[in-house]
Amino acid sequence: EKVLWNDQLTTRDEVKIGIEDRGYQFGDGIYEVIKVYGGDVFTATEHIDRFYSSAEKIAMALPYTKDVLHHLIHQLIEENELENGIVYLQATRGDSPRNHPYPNPAVEAVLTGYTRETKRPLAELEAGVPVILIEDIRWLRCDIKSLNLLGNVMAKQQAVEKGCFEAVQHRGDVITEGSSSNAFGIKDGTLYTHPTTNLILNGITRQVILDCCKEIGLPVVEEAFTVEQAKQMDEFFISSTGIEVMPVIKLDDHVVGNGTPGEWTRKLQHAFEAKLP
Ligand code: PDD
Repeated sequence: EKVLWNDQLTTRDEVKIGIEDRGYQFGDGIYEVIKVYGGDVFTATEHIDRFYSSAEKIAMALPYTKDVLHHLIHQLIEENELENGIVYLQATRGDSPRNHPYPNPAVEAVLTGYTRETKRPLAELEAGVPVILIEDIRWLRCDIKSLNLLGNVMAKQQAVEKGCFEAVQHRGDVITEGSSSNAFGIKDGTLYTHPTTNLILNGITRQVILDCCKEIGLPVVEEAFTVEQAKQMDEFFISSTGIEVMPVIKLDDHVVGNGTPGEWTRKLQHAFEAKLP
């Protein structure tokens, strides 16, 4: 099994990461998770574009073109004969004596990537999942897909400890997003989701879902909504590369709709599936 290390495909035990790598010390880096269905990457261009956009937002130069990165990802999938799973990709600002400011002159970014077989969460997609609601304590640049995930990790842990699938976060009253997903509510035949500001990650799955809404004639309002409004929604779901369109049947103790995945959510699941390779 091969992994990606800078612009080389190599074996996992050949990779050497410095103990002063800025990703390791500061979380100073970015990442992407890309899904592979039947050997084909899904929305690879969108993920690679976001990877470069995250790098740009933290003033980090990536030493390869997007085309080279596309090529490396394809090679990795082929070499590992990955049928269904994910490609994980990350880049850090590099290895440099510990000091907060960006190294000057800059050092080379460190790129790593690997594949992992995963299964679609079919049982959960069918039955829906319970989530907790939790205060969003993260920083104010959630639009960057940063390696700094401590806030997200702490939120998800609380969900797990309560037997829930995800933590849907709110900043004050306003629902932002899940710890590793975007959040959506449907009320009276309209879909509501947080606008793409600095407070959420602009999910690639979210973007695909908004296209699906057009196809199935579900109007979209990209406006923030509150916790109280969330509990009034007829349907609720979360999305990400790994969980696709995941119906939510409980928000804390509150039962969403009649406690089973709603009709629009089912339609979105079908429209989404139709786009898969
Ligand atoms: N997480 N919001 C956050 C905070 C996320 O971490 C993610 C994805 C999303 C959904 O983005 P997308 O649809 O592009 O996957 C939204 C990835 C899957 C992860 O950290 O594993």
